[in-house]
Amino acid sequence: MSKSIEVKTSQKNYTVLVGSDIFEDQIKEVADSFNGDNLFVLVDENVEKYHSDLINKSFEETGKNFFLMTVPEGEKSKSVSFWNTCIEFLLENGVRRNTPVFVIGGGVTGDVGGFAAASALRGVPLIHVPTTVLAMVDSSIGGKTGVNHSTGKNLIGAFYQPYKVIADISFLNTLPRDEWTNGLSEILKYGAIEQVDIFDKAEIFLQHKIEEISKDKLIDLITDCIQIKADIVEKDEFEGNIRAYLNFGHTFAHALEKECSYQSISHGEAVYLGMLAAIELSNHFGAKLNPDKLLKFRSLYHYRVSKEELSLEDLTDHMKFDKKRTSQYIRFVLLDEWQSPILKEVRSDDVIHQAWKVALDEL
Ligand SMILES: NC(=O)c1ccc[n+]([C@@H]2O[C@H](COP(=O)([O-])OP(=O)(O)OC[C@H]3O[C@@H](n4cnc5c(N)ncnc54)[C@H](O)[C@@H]3O)[C@@H](O)[C@H]2O)c1
Repeated sequence: MSKSIEVKTSQKNYTVLVGSDIFEDQIKEVADSFNGDNLFVLVDENVEKYHSDLINKSFEETGKNFFLMTVPEGEKSKSVSFWNTCIEFLLENGVRRNTPVFVIGGGVTGDVGGFAAASALRGVPLIHVPTTVLAMVDSSIGGKTGVNHSTGKNLIGAFYQPYKVIADISFLNTLPRDEWTNGLSEILKYGAIEQVDIFDKAEIFLQHKIEEISKDKLIDLITDCIQIKADIVEKDEFEGNIRAYLNFGHTFAHALEKECSYQSISHGEAVYLGMLAAIELSNHFGAKLNPDKLLKFRSLYHYRVSKEELSLEDLTDHMKFDKKRTSQYIRFVLLDEWQSPILKEVRSDDVIHQAWKVALDEL
């Protein structure tokens, strides 16, 4: 079974294909649709380690020359210096305006590789092959590419839409369990802001063994999430208004990640606590949300940080000094009710501290 979603943007319209064991055929099909003799491949180190036979065989079968570069795993690859390494790899090997660049990996590889494709020759065709749950449901969709700066995450980049996205769930067989949970947080986010039955569909993540998850149910869930993101991107490509709803839980999460120096908490773990805090804050302003919808997944999160190590004041200060903030007050994505997100500026530190307390009680 495979499903496709059309993403419509001002830059271009493109297809996201979600399926199992679709990689080989898709590489051939996409390669055939370009005239030149060359292809470029940027691949995450761990994906290459586990899937090099499939990757090499698939690109060999295209009959074209392919230049492959490994992207070292981890956030450190989302740097200006590694972006420069990607650019040198493309330019020194003769990339042309119509040479496709396949970027195979999680959000890190997708963001830095996508930014290299956006900037080499002012843009070459980019094909995202997301290999983490997070990259499939979130980062490969919508055109945000970029790298980090020493003063903050994702501060350098471009909106650059891909030519196609190929989400083959068979790559997930080698994904560590904690990385599945990382992606789950973004899935639950979609449940909260747009489609509440996602909380039920996501129960497949509670399965004792990941390999027992039904492929069809997983494809169905991933497709639902991509459709939600595609719809939001279509309405607000450059994050002028409703695209910000995708940041539900993320204002708290970014502060937590910063306070933990991006070491002792993962993005997904931080987003999960951030959503609990956002639910508490929403309830303070009159919503009647039962956090059990999220809490039933609590056992999947294994925190390495304790609440005693965290200061409510410091966490709140991180939110106040966020570099992307545009107003004097902290603006949160909250919920009036499930599936009904709103943007709200909150001026009282006490109210924010109370939301933190409730979330951090989970540690
Ligand atoms: N562009 C966007 O819209 C957007 C949205 C959300 C997040 N992001 C970015 O995405 C990044 C996080 O992405 P991520 O969670 O995918 O992390 P990641 O890319 O670091 O991948 C997580 C880990 O899984 C490994 N891995 C990837 N695929 C694998 C596979 N199939 N089998 C085994 N191991 C595999 C990687 O080597 C890495 O160790 C962050 O930098 C974040 O800022 C971007």
